[in-house]
Amino acid sequence: MSDAQATVLILLGPPGAGKGTQARMLEEEYGLVQLSTGDMLRAAVAQGTEAGRAAKALMEAGALVPDEVVLAILRERMAQPDVARGIILDGFPRTGGQAAALDRLLAAQGWRVTAAVSLEVDDEAMVGRVSGRYTCACGEGWHDTFKKPAVAGVCDRCGGSDFRRRADDNAVTVRERLRAYHDQTAPLIAHYAAQGVLERIDAMGPIAQVRAALGRILGRVAA
Ligand code: AP5
Repeated sequence: MSDAQATVLILLGPPGAGKGTQARMLEEEYGLVQLSTGDMLRAAVAQGTEAGRAAKALMEAGALVPDEVVLAILRERMAQPDVARGIILDGFPRTGGQAAALDRLLAAQGWRVTAAVSLEVDDEAMVGRVSGRYTCACGEGWHDTFKKPAVAGVCDRCGGSDFRRRADDNAVTVRERLRAYHDQTAPLIAHYAAQGVLERIDAMGPIAQVRAALGRILGRVAA
């Protein structure tokens, strides 16, 4: 991290709200760096690291991973030089403890949160969004109904066909993840409102409409 303030955008929202979809678009368009703790934890699980072993069963059950495990991998990632371009936090923070730790981590570098955007959606629709999701090995996200490749079975971005579905993307686990969001993460909306950086977006509209709303916010607040 560098001392000059860079854009620090937090995307808050339940599973399926579109955090990852929007973060990937903003990353390409604004040159920001997407930091997804879910992706970092899935990589740790795949590699069989100590953090991955601590996270695996909790993720499969739809529960949150302990703060100290998530904070350790986030701190390591934030120490990389590319974050000086500005960051989009996707899926972090998720608890009061993580939000406080983030505030301290940023303050140590003379940074602060630029905006925390709450993507507001209906829970029931999120079960359909998450159950229909699949991802290309290149990282591009797709959906059976809402975001199909131009040619069925071929990723528009990389031309590949190596698509995967997440183990926790089933209706039962999604409901547990929604419960975890409302119990432990939704209270952060008040935390960021108190800091004067909260923005709210109706994220039930089409992907492009949500993207446009985020672009307007970034145009107003970006460092
Ligand atoms: P994580 O990977 O962060 O998952 P999540 O928060 O449950 O969010 P999702 O990835 O399901 O949803 P999203 O909002 O990114 O939606 P997407 O853009 O893909 O976390 C997974 C697990 O890791 C957690 O349960 C926990 O165990 C652990 N974890 C992670 N971070 C943690 C932390 N900080 N602390 C503790 N534990 C942590 O969109 C979904 C689908 O809908 C896609 O197919 C997309 O194409 C489609 N779509 C998107 N937007 C729209 C739209 N506007 N209209 C129609 N379709 C849309």
